[in-house]
Formats: sequence, structure tokens, C-alpha cells
Amino acid sequence: MVKGRLASSRLIYFSDKLCDEFRDQLTQLGKQGKGDLHPLVRKSMYAAVINNLFGKNVLPVNSEKEFEKLEEMFVMFDEQFEYGARIPSVFLKDWSSAKKYLIDLFSKVVPKTINKKSDDDETLLHSLLNLVQDQYKPNYSLLLLWASLANAIPITFWTLAFILHDEKVLQKVKTELTSVFGQNGQCPTITEEGLKKLQYLKWCVLESIRLRPTGIITRRVIKSFTIRDMEIPEGDMLMLSPFWAHRNEKYFPDPLMYKPERWKEAEIDKNVFLDGFVAFGGGRYQCPGRWYAILEIQMYVAMFLQMFDCKLLINSIPEPSKKHLVGTQQPAEPCPVEYRLRK
Ligand code: HEM
Repeated sequence: MVKGRLASSRLIYFSDKLCDEFRDQLTQLGKQGKGDLHPLVRKSMYAAVINNLFGKNVLPVNSEKEFEKLEEMFVMFDEQFEYGARIPSVFLKDWSSAKKYLIDLFSKVVPKTINKKSDDDETLLHSLLNLVQDQYKPNYSLLLLWASLANAIPITFWTLAFILHDEKVLQKVKTELTSVFGQNGQCPTITEEGLKKLQYLKWCVLESIRLRPTGIITRRVIKSFTIRDMEIPEGDMLMLSPFWAHRNEKYFPDPLMYKPERWKEAEIDKNVFLDGFVAFGGGRYQCPGRWYAILEIQMYVAMFLQMFDCKLLINSIPEPSKKHLVGTQQPAEPCPVEYRLRK
């Protein structure tokens, strides 16, 4: 059901409202400013995406103080997510209290969401809650929150950072944006159809995902099997590393280079990625949010660069932090930028 809601053919139901949400958030950045790009993107995307997927104001995104708390707790939860799955909570005090705060929040939200009678505006959260037993509803809601924010938002940061760092790429993106939205610097209205015209920008998004994917995807072996004379026993864990797979020269020549053009070979219009690209996993448990993720990243970056002239205040972009193995990588250091509303 959740997969169905996020199918590429249904993105149209999210895109108009998401564009309005992004517009609200980007307008709040003011006429000019300076700051660290990752938290800047995070703040505006969290609020917009939460409203879009969980329902308008279902979580406290409109009260500045409450939203700050939500953001702080979610960042902490995400920061130690990998440890939290393995280490007893008594050793992870900050992580445990962040998780408790988020579960308590969802415990209040769940009954209100289920009792909402009209299904005109059924949200993704609503679809999830219809599937899950009562006692697990708050925990599953939190998992959905993590899945929808923890990967796509760092990738939005990387996409902007890679583009801003390479003058040639930046010019190509700007030329494409101007050809579709004109040169006026107004915050554009972007439809799902409009995004299809921003093909080069989509390549930039995919190239950023290729270079900053999750470290590992894991499966437990349910039934033993043999592969190349090797017996894989039941109960073993098998892991695929998108990080290393995407550095395989056979599939990605010059694998460490940021080359959006390599995506020319993919049949993006038919939703086919390049061979060797495994960022979203595969099979039954493949990421159901992949089309939504690409849409939100492309839309945010398009709106941001159409509205603002932005420049990096450092010569190279930050290294990825080694902390995140299950989620996409985050920057290890700050990435200061300066932005100004385009005339
Ligand atoms: C660039 C952004 C994203 C990346 C790289 C990503 C990556 C992944 C990966 C690697 C998996 C595990 C797949 C497997 O085990 O084969 C996954 C699962 C999942 N993702 Fe994403 N994801 C992204 C964005 C999103 C978004 C935006 C949503 C929701 C709107 C989402 C929802 C989910 C869910 C619900 C699962 C669990 C699926 C299951 O266990 O059946 N993801 N994602």
C-alpha cells in the first residue's frame, strides 16, 4: 500500500503541495544570508517534507520552538541510529531520550490521524497506519519518518554542494533553469511535468546519489544456498555495499569524478538507472520512496538555484563523515555558503 502511494505514476498527488511547501520555506530564508549549507537545507526540507507526507501540521512544524525541538531530537536519533540498533539503550542516553520524545510525539499523533474521517486527503502516514497493529503504530511512524528524511535530505545538500563547487556544472544547471523558467529569479511553480524538462539537473541528482549512497544494505539468509561452490548457511547476514559498487570502474569510469553526463546513457524517462547503480537496494524490499526522493531533491535544488545566487565560502566541499553506514553519508565538516536573492 505504501509502495503504491509512492509509485512514480502517483507523484503528481504530492508534487503541487510540495512545491507550495518549499516556496514557503525558501521565502523564509530572506533576501540574503550566510550559513552552513547542510542545516540550512535540513531545516527547510524537514518542515516541507513532513507536511507533505504526514499531513499539514500533524507534527509541530509551524511553532518555531516546538519545531526546533523536533529537529534537534530527530538529528540526534539519526546521528546514532546505527548504534541504537545494536547497543542497549542504557549506554546511549541522548539517543534513547530522542527516541522516546519522537515515539511519545507519534503516540499523540496516531489516534488523531486514524480518527480523521475524510479520505480525500489521505496521507502516506495514514496509509501506513492502516496496515500496522495498534501497539506498533508509533514505532512504524517513526521508522517512516526516518526513512523519508534521513537519506534524501543529505543528498539534497550534496547535490547543491557538488553543483556549486563546479562552475561548469553550475552554468549548465542555470542555463537549463533559465530555459524553462526565465531569468527573473522569482520562485517558480514547478509541476511534475516541469521537472521532466530539467534533465541535466536530474543527472546531477543521480550522480550525487551515486557518490554518496548508503554504506551497506543487509539481508539475513532464510534458507541456505550455494553460489560458486560456496555454501551460504541459513542465519548468515549478506551485505551489499552501494558505496563500493558505485566505485567500480567497469560500470562507472573515473568513479570518483562528479560527472552528471554519465547519466545520458541511462533510460531515465523509462525509470531505468545505469547498470551497477544499487543505491535504492533491490527486490522485494527495494526503496519504495525512490521516485519521491528524486522528485523532492530535484524540485528543491531547482527552486533554490532559481531564487538565489549562492556561493561556497570554502574551496573544496566537505569530506563525507564515516559515521553513517546504513543511511546516506553526511558532511564531516561545515559547508559555509553565502546566498542572495536573484534580481
Ligand atoms: C536519496 C534518497 C533515498 C535513498 C538513497 C534510499 C535508500 C534506501 C535503501 C538502500 C533502502 C533499503 C532497500 C533494500 O533493503 O533493498 C530503503 C528502504 C526504504 N526506503 Fe528509502 N531511500 C531514499 C529515500 C526515501 C524516501 C524519500 C522515502 C519515503 C518517502 C523512503 C522510504 C523507504 C522505506 C519505507 C523503506 C523500507 C522498505 C522495506 O523494508 O520494504 N526512502 N531506502
